[in-house]
Amino acid sequence: MADLQPLRVAIVGLGTVGSGVAKILLENSQHIARRSGREIDVVFAIVRDPTKPRGVTLPDGVLATSFELMESPEIDVVCELIGGTTTAGDVVRQALNAGKHVVTANKALLCEQGDELFQLAREKGKTICFEAAVAGGVPVIEGLSQSLAANQIQSIEAIVNGTSNFILTEMLDHQSSYEDAVARAQEKGYAEADPTMDVDGTDAAQKLTILAQLAFGTKASLNDFPRQGIDKLKLADLKYADELGYRVKLLAVAKRNGDFLELHTQPTLIHDNLPMAAIYDAYNMIEIEGDAVGKTWFSGMGAGQMPTASAVVSDLIDLAVGRAQQTFPLLDLWGQSEPLRILPAEKIERRYYLRFHAIDQPGTISSIATILGNHEISIASCIQHEFEIHPADSGEGKASIVPFVVITHTTTEGQMRAADEELIQCDAIEPDYLRLPIQD
Ligand SMILES: NC(=O)c1ccc[n+]([C@@H]2O[C@H](COP(=O)([O-])OP(=O)(O)OC[C@H]3O[C@@H](n4cnc5c(N)ncnc54)[C@H](OP(=O)(O)O)[C@@H]3O)[C@@H](O)[C@H]2O)c1
Repeated sequence: MADLQPLRVAIVGLGTVGSGVAKILLENSQHIARRSGREIDVVFAIVRDPTKPRGVTLPDGVLATSFELMESPEIDVVCELIGGTTTAGDVVRQALNAGKHVVTANKALLCEQGDELFQLAREKGKTICFEAAVAGGVPVIEGLSQSLAANQIQSIEAIVNGTSNFILTEMLDHQSSYEDAVARAQEKGYAEADPTMDVDGTDAAQKLTILAQLAFGTKASLNDFPRQGIDKLKLADLKYADELGYRVKLLAVAKRNGDFLELHTQPTLIHDNLPMAAIYDAYNMIEIEGDAVGKTWFSGMGAGQMPTASAVVSDLIDLAVGRAQQTFPLLDLWGQSEPLRILPAEKIERRYYLRFHAIDQPGTISSIATILGNHEISIASCIQHEFEIHPADSGEGKASIVPFVVITHTTTEGQMRAADEELIQCDAIEPDYLRLPIQD
């Protein structure tokens, strides 16, 4: 071990994750040196404001403010941990151009600029490691690219947004409104002050594009597949799903379907007897099915300082021992083969949960059934409760509103979209009609 030179690291961005990485590298240095066969040294930690408290004590001379230091001959690897896509993209390009390997936790950057950055890394003979970009501390990138390399991957189904999963758990377990559950997620540090990217499905969809490219070679951008967040869900929907034997989860799916790849990120009713239904709080789970191995499950904390830092440091250890260079060429292999094309959304086949707030008057249910029938969508079951909104609350002279839930048999997204157009015009239902896919 003593013969090998240390791996010399510049951490760029010393916020939540960057400070965690510095902490692990400093506090676990001997253990890491034993596992890596060489030391991993933090040479520079580059920040905007050197006076800001960082929650970690760095050796003298490490804290710096100049991005130029990334290019120093004293550096082998740059950890991009600032987030966002503009400055972060520049940092990664600068590091690669200076002949440094890169480790990043930035799914937004990889989703938006991954192609260009991976191409640059190949040209420079360098590696971009990104274990922390999907599911934080859960080793799914290494699992997919190394441990399951013998398999043709059949499907990936994933809960990869811990914030959404926490909010959904909180709503059902504490009978909270969506708004109260978001506030609780913010109090616990699981949600940003502006949680939009988490709750509108963007974050999970970005992670799905990374997994889909690794597993199937398919390059997808966010507009190529259905994406829906949890921000329109009401506690009542979670309760109706529960009554029917399902849990609602924000599920990201990439599934082989003939010569095509089915892709979507949507709140989904998952049957209670499936492992994914039992994932609670901010935990993540990724189910990967390979043709040889069958189903495997990767689960753990998908975000947070130390879980995410754990994944970043594992990438550094891979670089130190030379394993990372074996993973990275996988992306090249896909570049030479014919990737699966994305299945047009209209052709996706599933069962659906439909929730209406229907006007309690004769003929309402038959209007809904007729519209569904017009599009050859057949009803598997339905539930109707007595008044959700009492007549007295619905305004003088107005009919009361009742919740009405329909579970369909398998149908296509295309048929459902055509039915939606008629349903939202139907006078017998309120405009807040909700449709979610079902995973049995
Ligand atoms: N937090 C998590 O649980 C988690 C989980 C998985 C992945 N990630 C990813 O990890 C990355 C970092 O996230 P984070 O939560 O650690 O973010 P953060 O706490 O906001 O830290 C970002 C750091 O980058 C610095 N920074 C931002 N813009 C900069 C600029 N233009 N020039 C120089 N420095 C700049 C900030 O400097 P100041 O300190 O001076 O403001 C801060 O130190 C992101 O890509 C995120 O998506 C985070």
